[in-house]
Amino acid sequence: MSSDLTGKEQIAIIGSGLIGQSWAMIFAGGGYRVTIYDILPEQVSKALETVKSNLTKYETQGCLRGSLSAQQQIGLISGSSSLEQCLQAASYVQECVPELVDLKRKVFQQIDPFITEHMVVATSSSCIGVSQFAGDLKNRHRTLVAHPVNPPYFIPLVEIVPGPWTLPEVTAKTRTLLEAVGQSPVTLSREVPGFALNRIQYSIINECWNMYKDGLLSAKDIDKVMVDGLGPRYAFIGPLETMHLNADGNTVNLVDYCQRYAQGAYNVTSTFIPPPILYDVPTAEDILKEVQETIPLEKITERRVWRDERLAALAALKKQLKEKTD
Ligand SMILES: NC(=O)c1ccc[n+]([C@@H]2O[C@H](COP(=O)([O-])OP(=O)(O)OC[C@H]3O[C@@H](n4cnc5c(N)ncnc54)[C@H](O)[C@@H]3O)[C@@H](O)[C@H]2O)c1
Ligand SMILES: *[C@@H]1O[C@H](CO)[C@@H](O)[C@H](O)[C@H]1NC(C)=O
Ligand SMILES: *[C@@H]1O[C@H](CO)[C@@H](O)[C@H](O)[C@H]1NC(C)=O
Repeated sequence: MSSDLTGKEQIAIIGSGLIGQSWAMIFAGGGYRVTIYDILPEQVSKALETVKSNLTKYETQGCLRGSLSAQQQIGLISGSSSLEQCLQAASYVQECVPELVDLKRKVFQQIDPFITEHMVVATSSSCIGVSQFAGDLKNRHRTLVAHPVNPPYFIPLVEIVPGPWTLPEVTAKTRTLLEAVGQSPVTLSREVPGFALNRIQYSIINECWNMYKDGLLSAKDIDKVMVDGLGPRYAFIGPLETMHLNADGNTVNLVDYCQRYAQGAYNVTSTFIPPPILYDVPTAEDILKEVQETIPLEKITERRVWRDERLAALAALKKQLKEKTD
């Protein structure tokens, strides 16, 4: 396995936009040496600058990841204007180019000749599985999806989605590495549209959409159901554990819960409008009117920063609570 004096494997980041920069910060936080490549050399310089200033800022704010100082982490990250050089010593490659299937195919074809038998090549792709573009590669069995969630530095989930030919050891190695740098990977057994997160997310949006169209609640109140209701709970326990913990009285576990409440849930869900649901423009325009009362167009950027600050605070709180119980 390729490693340097730190004794750790080296990481190659291909594509240095928002997600490439985030991965660089995450791996450096874990003490790994990272090389960033981009088709635009000036973008590499820009990415290094952003990473440097963000890591410095996070250190000041107390939300820097890992045990190294910001300066030490910055020292682990370098840029390259050559794809070959970037891949040279790497044993893990995280591809972060735009979400276009032909571009993914082209970039993976360029990487293919440099893939060794110790290398893993992961795509950050949000929707496109490797089966859609890596089938012709000599080393397709060493490719897979590792899909992060924005902003990855503060939301730890990564969806690992193997293609039909991905070796089990490649999937396992990816999971181990991502855990080592403090991400929270989940492994799907095969590719499905939307992977796991978006399948759940769309089923939530579908019901929100239908309730809004039905005039049941305002858009603001629908969002409140999540933010002040389900959201806080789900930040700590998932829906399945919720069923387990919600057992009470005559019920003591998840099976008892189902025996008691399954018919009620069945009755409720039999009133649902079955998918697929097409999010139509007239309804979207109605929702927009309401959402814009609080978040007008000119405040969206500010609101994203606000969101990221709160996610950072939540990540810090969860880390602190975890340390207490460990
Ligand atoms: N932005 C998100 O919220 C988010 C979340 C999860 C996953 N993703 C996925 O991550 C990937 C990257 O997204 P992003 O938001 O960072 O995009 P981005 O547009 O910010 O960055 C893409 C970078 O890739 C570079 N690039 C383009 N062609 C290239 C090539 N041939 N070789 C090397 N570099 C090249 C561009 O110059 C740019 O710097 C996409 O697949 C996206 O779906 C994005
Ligand atoms: C860096 O910080 C800026 C300003 O807060 C933010 O918009 C951007 O998303 C951050 N980039 C990364 C990769 O974290
Ligand atoms: C479910 O609906 C049926 C038919 O309307 C009804 O008989 C039953 O009591 C309902 N059960 C629950 C738990 O709501």
